[in-house]
Amino acid sequence: MDLFEHQAKDLFAAYGIPVPRGIVAHTPEEARGAAEQLTGRVVVKAQVKTGGRGKAGGVKLADDAADAAKKATEILGMDIKGHTVHKVLVEEASAIAEEYYFSFLLDRANRDFLAICSASGGMDIEEVAHTAPEKVAKVSISPLTGVDRTKAKEIAQAGGLPARALEGAAELIEKLWCAFVDEDATLVEVNPMILAADGQVKALDGKVTLDDNAAFRQPDHEALADKSAEDPLEAAAKARDLNYVKLDGSVGIIGNGAGLVMSTLDVVAYAGEPFGGQRPANFLDIGGGASAEVMAAGLEIILSDPSVRSIFVNVFGGITACDAVANGVVAAFRLLEERGEAVSRPLVVRLDGNNAALGRQILADANLAGVELVDTMDDAARRAAELAAVGVS
Ligand SMILES: Nc1ncnc2c1ncn2[C@@H]1O[C@H](COP(=O)(O)OP(=O)(O)OP(=O)(O)O)[C@@H](O)[C@H]1O
Ligand SMILES: [Mg+2]
Repeated sequence: MDLFEHQAKDLFAAYGIPVPRGIVAHTPEEARGAAEQLTGRVVVKAQVKTGGRGKAGGVKLADDAADAAKKATEILGMDIKGHTVHKVLVEEASAIAEEYYFSFLLDRANRDFLAICSASGGMDIEEVAHTAPEKVAKVSISPLTGVDRTKAKEIAQAGGLPARALEGAAELIEKLWCAFVDEDATLVEVNPMILAADGQVKALDGKVTLDDNAAFRQPDHEALADKSAEDPLEAAAKARDLNYVKLDGSVGIIGNGAGLVMSTLDVVAYAGEPFGGQRPANFLDIGGGASAEVMAAGLEIILSDPSVRSIFVNVFGGITACDAVANGVVAAFRLLEERGEAVSRPLVVRLDGNNAALGRQILADANLAGVELVDTMDDAARRAAELAAVGVS
């Protein structure tokens, strides 16, 4: 999960990192009120989860409260790289002497962490990294030793920060490391990390990515989720503990095991080519224990997606045998029928592996409307794609 800048800064502040005072506003009037409260010059900043806001005109200086309202009017509703601005952060303007770049991130390839630091920070950091890579220091961090004040100072020095900024930067970097580790983040970026005119080193921007896999031990993180931006189908699936990802095709996919579902997506995309480019409508892994309830929940989610025109159930029986899955499909049909949500679109089922013959028999006997059994994955994918294409005309 990515955080908004204002959330990142709240998090930084909780770890003792200096950030400018700021107030979130959703309307120009709120922005005026915020600026009155902060007094003096303020900066009005678009809150969208993407970089390059400044260059897109989403960060504007305002002289007073009236000007802040005017700047907020300009920024609210703006589209920045496909993200609509719904709120702004009104923040006291800092007197900037210098802008640096700093980040910690997870370095999967090297199985450790990486600190990136440069004295040439600010909005052109990408350009600097491209044309003068020697100005951007990359220091690998062992998860075993982490970052203390000495290490933090070393990194700041490697990034070419001037002596006058070293102490302040080292303190900020050490605290940022604590935030990075304690919050289970995979990225914390401060660009710019500034040296203010008064000599203080501060975080003037913040990007944070939290590791969703650590949610179980980070109960506070749920409150940071942006519910309004969530796909409603994905949210409904999440509430039912389903591993569902919405895609933009027409063939609904249900499978057991992430690997099988991933390859099913590929096979369906390939098989769908000759049928007007039919593609998978979703990823849905019902996992090992495919009970009737889970199957029903899965079918329900997929059927509530209006772009789904056929469904492909691809199951390889393992610990959960095919007969259990077949019973799950039958029970799911009955369950949905009772609720008055009878399965209205064609379903292609491929069962293989443990107890496949028994599973197919159960489905054949049940004689469910719109259900077809196909023996192989390739043939089933082709049939599902064909049915999706028929559904169009
Ligand atoms: N509170 C502030 N006071 C003064 N200047 C600021 C303030 N906040 C931002 N700025 C200026 O605006 C520039 C852009 O702001 P910021 O870095 O937050 O947005 P951004 O363009 O999205 O960043 P990035 O390029 O990292 O994606 C900063 O580099 C800084 O010069
Ligand atoms: Mg920035």
